Formats: sequence, structure tokens, C-alpha cells
Amino acid sequence: MFSRFTRLRCYSSSSFKTAIDTAEKLVSPSSTKFNDPFSIVSHEMSNLAKSIANLIGSGHPTLNRVSSYYFEAEGKNVRPLIVLLLSKALSKIPIEQRNRISIDKYDVTEQSHIKGTPTNISSIAGKSVDDSLSPLAILHGINPKVILDPLSKPMDKLPEFDILNGILPKQRRLAEIVEMIHTASLLHDDVIDLSDSRRGRPSGNIAFTNKMAVLAGDFLLGRASVAISRLRNPEVIELLSTTIANLVEGEFMQLKNTVINEVDNEINNDGESKRIPDPTGKVPTKQHEYSVNLVNHDTNVEAAFEYYLHKTYLKTASLMSKSCRAAAVLSGAQDDIIEQSYQFGRNLGLCFQIVDDMLDYTSSDTQFGKPSQADLKLGLATAPILFAWEKEPKLGELIARKFNQPGDVEIARKSVEKYNGLEKTREMATDYCLKALNNLRFLPESDARSALELLTNSILTRTK
Ligand code: FPP
Ligand code: MG
Repeated sequence: MFSRFTRLRCYSSSSFKTAIDTAEKLVSPSSTKFNDPFSIVSHEMSNLAKSIANLIGSGHPTLNRVSSYYFEAEGKNVRPLIVLLLSKALSKIPIEQRNRISIDKYDVTEQSHIKGTPTNISSIAGKSVDDSLSPLAILHGINPKVILDPLSKPMDKLPEFDILNGILPKQRRLAEIVEMIHTASLLHDDVIDLSDSRRGRPSGNIAFTNKMAVLAGDFLLGRASVAISRLRNPEVIELLSTTIANLVEGEFMQLKNTVINEVDNEINNDGESKRIPDPTGKVPTKQHEYSVNLVNHDTNVEAAFEYYLHKTYLKTASLMSKSCRAAAVLSGAQDDIIEQSYQFGRNLGLCFQIVDDMLDYTSSDTQFGKPSQADLKLGLATAPILFAWEKEPKLGELIARKFNQPGDVEIARKSVEKYNGLEKTREMATDYCLKALNNLRFLPESDARSALELLTNSILTRTK
């Protein structure tokens, strides 16, 4: 699936410089007027946390505390920012060319407003993004106090800035859903990674408990699922539901680390090997595509890169790519634009995570807002060490045993330095960055497109 990416590993410093120059040229001069892509959608972004708070309120004060904990601290909010900027950029496609689906008439855009669609329609049950189809008594369960169920509150009047901005209410809700899914995954991830900090504060598992952090993540997913279903678009429901499954698949692949230490009846549990029960055969399970015979060093490295990139797609790029695709579907745009939007999110997501893996080697804890250099200590083999392994076959033993012997982490770090693992990783990320910039060229030129270009480049140069 990812073999074509692995061929990109033959980088040289001159090709890197060319790549950077090309990236600079690809960003249109008009984009220099933006210092901050946020400014284009600042109104929506500043309302994001408040809107999410409306979706996740419950009648349980402690549950409210845990589930809103990560939204209180300033995160990068990169996923909703991408969805909102892309939605705005898509709105510049003439409405006549956005007839793949009929845009819900409650999703009022500036252009449809001009064409005579009234903008102040009161919502009809089941039609707007906030309306329920189920009887409230069922949604409320045994405690039918309206205050306990913010999802049953009527939708606020369509805000003025939606009309001015061309961002549809469903796309705005999509941005909120994406951040909810991401935050749920972080709550779970911090339990799995035994993290102690996130966004400059104690992580959810430390501030509360593992149990509460896991339950809060589940609750966020439950509320996100209700909001997804209220988008009333089967294609978008399918895309977003798949992102949740993909996140888990990616995390599972990470638990197993790489293809080279794949032992089907053993898992590594916090530094200890644990035998897992043999399958009973009652439920047929498929052998996954990475169960290959590893024969020589080059094949092993190739397979490990494939595994790494597939894991990276599932863990990070899936949510970005499928939410970009969903934004395009909701805009009514044609298939080619939907596909380019998907590829943009995919390339950007791969670039984002590869840069993250690189920063794990280079950043200090304070700069990063979470413990850095954690990957090797967790036994994870990411791009920098894989590049070093390509040149130094002996590192395979350390990767297979998840760097769990004294001195392993230090040896690995020195090898990354010796074989320019970080430079090669940056080059790999640059390649995806360039691809993402090319995908954007399918959209009409606009301030929002320029802001997306700037954002794409800044992901490559970020330091946290
Ligand atoms: C951060 O990775 C984690 C993710 C991007 C996804 C984690 C996914 C799960 C835990 C599966 C469960 C999913 C849901 C939707 C509940 P990282 O550890 O590399 O980054 P970090 O340094 O920010 O922790
Ligand atoms: Mg983590």
C-alpha cells in the first residue's frame, strides 16, 4: 500500500534544498499578507470551544470536568482549522459547480443567499445540525431534564458570520466533531502512553484517573457520534465513523511497534511480554497484510517503512484526510475536488506526524508542552531510527526488543545522529508537504486557499 513512498527515501541535501525552494515558490505571493491562517476563520475558531462545550455538557459535574479538561488548555486546534479553511476555500467554487449533492437549504451560503434562498428559516425537526430525530424521552433516558441534554436544545439562530464567510453550518459542526474525536483519542492515548503532561498541564490520566480519562474519551466519542448522525449525510457518517476505527487500528499497530518484532501470540505490556489467548476459531480472523517472510535487510527495512507509514496514516492522517473529504462532500463539490481535498488532508496528515516524530528527538519538554524524546523510551521505531537502521543493520535487534536493554536508547540516538536520520526524516516530510500544496492548486485562488498554503508550510517548519 505504501511501497511507493519508501522509494522516496533516497534523499540528498541538494534535493532537499530544491524541495524547500519549490515549496516557497508554490506559496503564492498573496499569502505573504497573512501572518496567521487563524485570522481568516478567527470568529469560528474562537467559538469552537464554546460550541463543543454545548455538545458535551452532561448532568454529571465530574464527567463534565474530565471531558472538557483538554478543551480548556490551548491546543493547536489544527484539525478544525484545516476543516474551516478548506470549507471556506471550497465555498469559492461557483455554486453551479457544487451540485453533486443538493446542499441543505438550511446551510445558507453567501452565494445561495444572493440567489434568493431565505437566510432566516426557523429549523424543522430533523433538518438542522442540532435537531433530534429520536423522541427526547428516549434521548434523556430516566432523567428527562432538558438541562441534562444539550443535544436536544434547539439550534441557535444561524450566526451572521456563517453567511458572510461561506462556511456551512454542517461544515462548522464537522470542525467541532473532528476536534472531539481527536480529543477523545488523546485522553485514551495518554493512558496508553503513561503520559504525565499534555498542553503544559498534568495529562487527564494524572489530573483525574485512568478510569475517568478513558470514560471521558468514550463519552466524547458518544456525543461526537450523535453530532455525526445529525449531519444527515450517509457518506460523511461513513467517513467519520471510519476515522474512529482507523485511530484504534493505528494505535494497535503502534503497540506492536514494527513488522520485525511481530510475534502473533505475544504482546508487550508496559515493558513486559504477555502471552495472549490463542484464537478459538469460533470467529474467523484474517491474517494482516504485514505477516510476510522477512528475508534480508533491505526487505526488512522496506517492510518496516511501509508499516510505519501505514500506521501513521491510520493514527494521524486518516482523521485529517477523511474530514477534508467530508468538508468537500458537504460543500456539494464534484468528485475531482473531493478527491483532491482527501489527498490534501492525507499528505498534510502524513507530513504532520512525520514532523511530530522528528520533533520528539529534537524538542525540550517545555517547548513541546509534553514529554519529548518519549518515543524511543516507549520502544517506538519512527522514521529517524528507521533511516539509521537502513545504514546500520545491527540496530534491528534494538528495534525488535523495543530498546528495552540499558544503553539501547542512547545507542539509537547516536545512530540517528551519525546517519542523518533527522535530516532524512525532514526531507520525507517535505515531500508530503509539496504534494499537499499541489493538491490545493485544484481550488480557486482565494485568501482561504493562501491561508491553507501557509498552514501547510508552517507544519513543516513548526517547533512544537
Ligand atoms: C497521539 O499520538 C495519539 C493519536 C494521534 C491517536 C491515539 C488513538 C487511540 C488511543 C485509539 C483510541 C481512539 C479513540 C478515537 C478513542 P502520540 O502518542 O504519538 O502523540 P502525543 O505525543 O501527543 O501523545
Ligand atoms: Mg502519546
